Amino acid sequence: MNDVYILAIESSCDETSMAIVKNGKEVISLSTTTQIKVHAEYGGVVPEIASRMHTEVITLVLDSTLKEANMKMEDISAIAVTYTPGLTGSLIVGIECAKTLSLIYNKPLIGVNHLIGHVYANNIDNTLKYPLLALIVSGGHTELLIMEDDYKFTKLGETLDDAIGECYDKVARLLDLKYPGGPNIEKLAQKGKPTYKLPVPVNDNSYNFSYSGLKSAIINLTHHEKNLNKADLARSFEETAIGELTRKVKKALKETNIKRLVIAGGVSANQYLKKEMTKLCQEYNAELLIPKMLYSTDNAAMIGAAAYPLYLKKEFSDYTLNASSNGDIC
Ligand code: KG4
Ligand code: ZN
Repeated sequence: MNDVYILAIESSCDETSMAIVKNGKEVISLSTTTQIKVHAEYGGVVPEIASRMHTEVITLVLDSTLKEANMKMEDISAIAVTYTPGLTGSLIVGIECAKTLSLIYNKPLIGVNHLIGHVYANNIDNTLKYPLLALIVSGGHTELLIMEDDYKFTKLGETLDDAIGECYDKVARLLDLKYPGGPNIEKLAQKGKPTYKLPVPVNDNSYNFSYSGLKSAIINLTHHEKNLNKADLARSFEETAIGELTRKVKKALKETNIKRLVIAGGVSANQYLKKEMTKLCQEYNAELLIPKMLYSTDNAAMIGAAAYPLYLKKEFSDYTLNASSNGDIC
């Protein structure tokens, strides 16, 4: 079979990213512009500004992606694009760009779920082997799934309220740290001790998660405690938030007997999470995959990787492809 070169587009939130990925594994080029500095002024992503900024840079990102790969549109096998979940206006910019390129150059169009993209980020430098447990930890989602094969998911549990990344971002605001909160909390937590007693999120026998109670406890503390030690609070928060993940993953490793764990989504960039999951996987003799930093936060390479199995199965999208905020994997 000829090599397959997928041009992938990701614009679901505040990164405009394009990549050319060969055979679902080899990243030939990746070009990403981030709007973080602009949104940081407002303490979080402003959807209207995000979509406008995507339209301003998307053709420039396309040019640099092709240039870096030394390729032309004629060399591309298919166009992949994130269509769910995300900010509707931002998704539409990527989708319209993908449809236009598909129409002009007569290339198949492949709609990709962003969360599945995060999972396939682990197929770039490693190879996904099934069955595996997939833990998705991003700004909008916290889910634990079993993956039996390419695109074959069963959900074990998910958050009942806030996502872990969202909670990191809200706690960061309460501690006067800049957006995005995750990396800044992580930095501050490294200087602190876990001295604050915080409520354990979902202390039950399910695989579900919850972060709103933890967030409320921190809102209360920041409003009422006079001599707040921010570094200690950040550390206490991180141990509680990640502890919730390790407890549920441990239960899954024990009960399913699956020997592979894949972590996906922006929060997988967190060093404490990596340390705790490494310990857990050693205890259960399980293989652990975490994408390298470049592929753990939003990027188009993961979309190209996730599009490849769909290309092989000829699961193409038509021009009715539209943005959806739903994001359900299964
Ligand atoms: O996957 P992602 O880049 O975008 C979404 O799909 O949502 O995830 C973004 C989330 C943000 O909430 C951000 O604060 C969090 O990932 N994040 C982190 C770290 N880096 C990014 N959370 C904890 N520690 C980090 N080092
Ligand atoms: Zn993401």
